[in-house]
Amino acid sequence: MRPRKTFLIAAILVGWIFTTYLIFIKNFKESNPQRDQSILQKVHYLEQNIHFAEESRGRLYREIINILQKEEKTTSTEALPPVVNNVDLIEVPAPIAETPPKPDGSSGLEKFQQKYINGDVNSPIIPVLVFACNRLSVNKCLDDLIRYRPRADQFPIIVSQDCDDEATRTMILSYKENVTLIRQPDQSDITVLPKEKKYKGYYKISRHYGWALKTVFKQGFESIIIVEDDLSIAPDFYEYFLGTYPILKKDQSLWCISAWNDNGKEGLIDGAASELLYRSDFFPGLGWMMTKELWEELEPKWPKAFWDDWIRQPEQRKERACIRPELPRTRTFGKVGVSNGLFFDKHLKYIKLSEEFVSFTKMNLTYLHKSIYDDMFLNAVYQSPVVTLDELKRGLVKTTDPVRVAYLTKEQYKRITKSLGLMDDFKSGVPRTAYHGIVSFFYNGRRVYLAPNVNWKGYDLTWS
Ligand SMILES: *[C@@H]1O[C@H](CO)[C@@H](O)[C@H](O)[C@H]1NC(C)=O
Ligand SMILES: *[C@@H]1O[C@H](CO)[C@@H](O)[C@H](O)[C@H]1NC(C)=O
Repeated sequence: MRPRKTFLIAAILVGWIFTTYLIFIKNFKESNPQRDQSILQKVHYLEQNIHFAEESRGRLYREIINILQKEEKTTSTEALPPVVNNVDLIEVPAPIAETPPKPDGSSGLEKFQQKYINGDVNSPIIPVLVFACNRLSVNKCLDDLIRYRPRADQFPIIVSQDCDDEATRTMILSYKENVTLIRQPDQSDITVLPKEKKYKGYYKISRHYGWALKTVFKQGFESIIIVEDDLSIAPDFYEYFLGTYPILKKDQSLWCISAWNDNGKEGLIDGAASELLYRSDFFPGLGWMMTKELWEELEPKWPKAFWDDWIRQPEQRKERACIRPELPRTRTFGKVGVSNGLFFDKHLKYIKLSEEFVSFTKMNLTYLHKSIYDDMFLNAVYQSPVVTLDELKRGLVKTTDPVRVAYLTKEQYKRITKSLGLMDDFKSGVPRTAYHGIVSFFYNGRRVYLAPNVNWKGYDLTWS
């Protein structure tokens, strides 16, 4: 490792140690026993600080990993790990279970291909790839996926299981012909930095994603919908992806369709606007569709860990956007997992799943193409009158038309979003749900755009 990199890592480490030190000093000073404060409150306060420290540590590790990965790339020409022959691990090739694997190692999924691939752009075959591990509650997710599925042959459900958990496997297999199970074959331990042990889960997830996407795309599908085992879906989940599929294929400035709205909480969305869709520079994930072309682009450099943060980096995103709905078409019900439960309790729990069925395939969604959308959206935003946060919160805005709240600095952005209950974080400088820096939400019965200056110059990577 070059000295400069070593120095960088050392500098980050020192920074972290210092932050932790400050937090503990602060706690020490503030936990004055004479103060009239209940023990519970104190515990809660400490917990919050511990979570904060853990988050900082998480960020630190991610940065180290990034540096190490860059280092690795520049110093070695090591290829991807050897391709594991997965085909024998395909457990219940649902519609093809009758044919045993051929001696040449090809398997059921091939016949799958012949049977399913030849959809056209108006009636594409889009497999739903469900990522599972050891959560038995995957049944809730599968029940939804089967219940709302308009056609089994158009949306084959493929569950990819990591972890080899027996009970979960039995549960998945009980779906018989309705679900195809594939198993991530590489259960070897992953070597990580000693201090990084608690982030091992993120390595496993990344390995699992890489393997499963590769395995399913290899069958020749044009696109895949990706779902995790803790998601509920809305009744028009499939209709949403079908309706937006042609735009994803056509508009090269798009790279995903997502069913998720990070600010999709009751009180921040317009419940009457179930047909409303947006472009988003922020990659939302959580029920999303990607194309074969994108996978071919990402596969050779798929990361060892933290794939979702990685995919949001400018090198991967390349200024492409996703489509996302005003009303969420997915909701997560699970709180046990690698990411912490606190985030669920504070936020995810309040995400409102859309209940209406919107016929997206019958709608004219041309407005979502960049060439039309940008003018339309930016005009709407910058023609709306500016109001202050205070006016908005105190109900002093006279009009019911859309209004704009301006922000210029990261601190302003943080303060405003915290005060309104919006997500306040950034990934690679992009605020959640933002398009051209603009976050659109609903507040007290009116549309509000939280927007930077009209001459905005792009995202600032240092905003985090
Ligand atoms: C498969 O799905 C169909 C239709 O929803 C249902 O009637 C059937 O019971 C399911 N089969 C299994 C084994 O779950
Ligand atoms: C669909 O919408 C676009 C612009 O949003 C418009 O130019 C086009 O004429 C519409 N197509 C139909 C069939 O209405």
